[in-house]
Amino acid sequence: MLKVLIFGSGAREHAIYEAVLKSPLVSKDDIYFAQCGVFAMQNIILFDNYYELAKKSCELGIELLIVGPEAPLADGICDIFLNFGIKTIGVNKYWAQLESSKSFAKEFMCKFNIKTAKYFVLDNYLQVDNALAKFKIPPVVKADGLAAGKGVCIPKTFNETKNIVKEFLNGKFGESSKKVILEQRLCGRELSVFSLWDGKNLLSFPPACDFKKLLDGDKGANTGGMGSAFPCKLSDVEAGEIKNYLAKLENALKASKANFSGIIYSGLMMCNDGVYVLEYNMRFGDPEIQSVLDNLRIDILDVFLKMLDGKLNEIEFKFLDKPSYCVVLASKGYPFSPKKNCEILNLEAAKKLGVKIFFAGVKKIGEKYYTDGGRVLSLVKSGKNALEDIYKAAEEIKFDGKIYRKDIKLR
Ligand code: AMP
Ligand code: GLY
Repeated sequence: MLKVLIFGSGAREHAIYEAVLKSPLVSKDDIYFAQCGVFAMQNIILFDNYYELAKKSCELGIELLIVGPEAPLADGICDIFLNFGIKTIGVNKYWAQLESSKSFAKEFMCKFNIKTAKYFVLDNYLQVDNALAKFKIPPVVKADGLAAGKGVCIPKTFNETKNIVKEFLNGKFGESSKKVILEQRLCGRELSVFSLWDGKNLLSFPPACDFKKLLDGDKGANTGGMGSAFPCKLSDVEAGEIKNYLAKLENALKASKANFSGIIYSGLMMCNDGVYVLEYNMRFGDPEIQSVLDNLRIDILDVFLKMLDGKLNEIEFKFLDKPSYCVVLASKGYPFSPKKNCEILNLEAAKKLGVKIFFAGVKKIGEKYYTDGGRVLSLVKSGKNALEDIYKAAEEIKFDGKIYRKDIKLR
């Protein structure tokens, strides 16, 4: 049996764990965890740095690392594990830049004619007036590097834009905002497309939909995602445009000789004049992957192993013929300062309704669960009555300050 290490602590990693556990290629005792959440009951590896983690993993006979979040990828966790002879589902440090440096990603897209918003990079406030003169309406401001999902602002006025640029360049996100991207503001529907890349082949899941705004009707603050639905409703024209975009991405990766086995998540916007790439992430999206994996009807671990062998062309995805949904229960104050330490009650209600619970900002003390972060639980179900049952569970699970969107649906 294969020994696997899962890295990461959120609902995404919990969902990946449950999906991997379904595989006949692995047994529960052979799954290890690092920097994990309350879903990990056993086999937790403690470490001070990735080198130590890789060494311990090697001693335990772990053969495969699956990385959930972006930060370890950007720090080169996969390069370290590969040096120890451990295979990785995750990108190397060089290609992680498609997510960890927006200017790197923009250069990649421009080089290969992939449609993306017009942009301007600046690293000095003295450049701001010149840069702003190139935009007719206030541009979107983005920190170049990783900023835990908080590095994008959409100002209403040019003055506001200038203030944000100043704040960013003055180190609001440390090194990550020493460079700032100003980007033409686009308008359209957003979709998340997860692709797997094995060095030769690109295999893409159908698009999923992320509900990014905090409040119903897509109002309020931008969040990491308050819910997801899979698959998306697409017109034939939209499906065709996405297919063409993915063919372009595959050619770009081939031409670049991109030497990794991992995930590319294209954050797309469907605009009047076609598909634009808003961003690349080099990991699965949370909470979109919770609904995608619940819908998938083939063994994800087998897919990962084929990816490592450069055989993604042999995989044929199969999905349930009904949709899947994820509703996130969050804590009041999210995404700014979420309320913590509130006891979570009646989790068993979900089980009775056949709704899966994936833990995120949760801690366990004794036998009791408490809130410990912004996004607390992902509630997931597929098929008949899925949404009704998820919303019944969302109502019945109790904790102080519970908030969630009531309008998650297919779109
Ligand atoms: P990003 O991290 O680049 O995906 O940005 C986070 C969110 O900001 C996206 O999901 C969009 O909702 C919004 N956004 C990013 N870039 C643009 C843009 N050029 N025009 C309009 N909205 C954007
Ligand atoms: N749901 C968006 C993300 O994972 O970045």
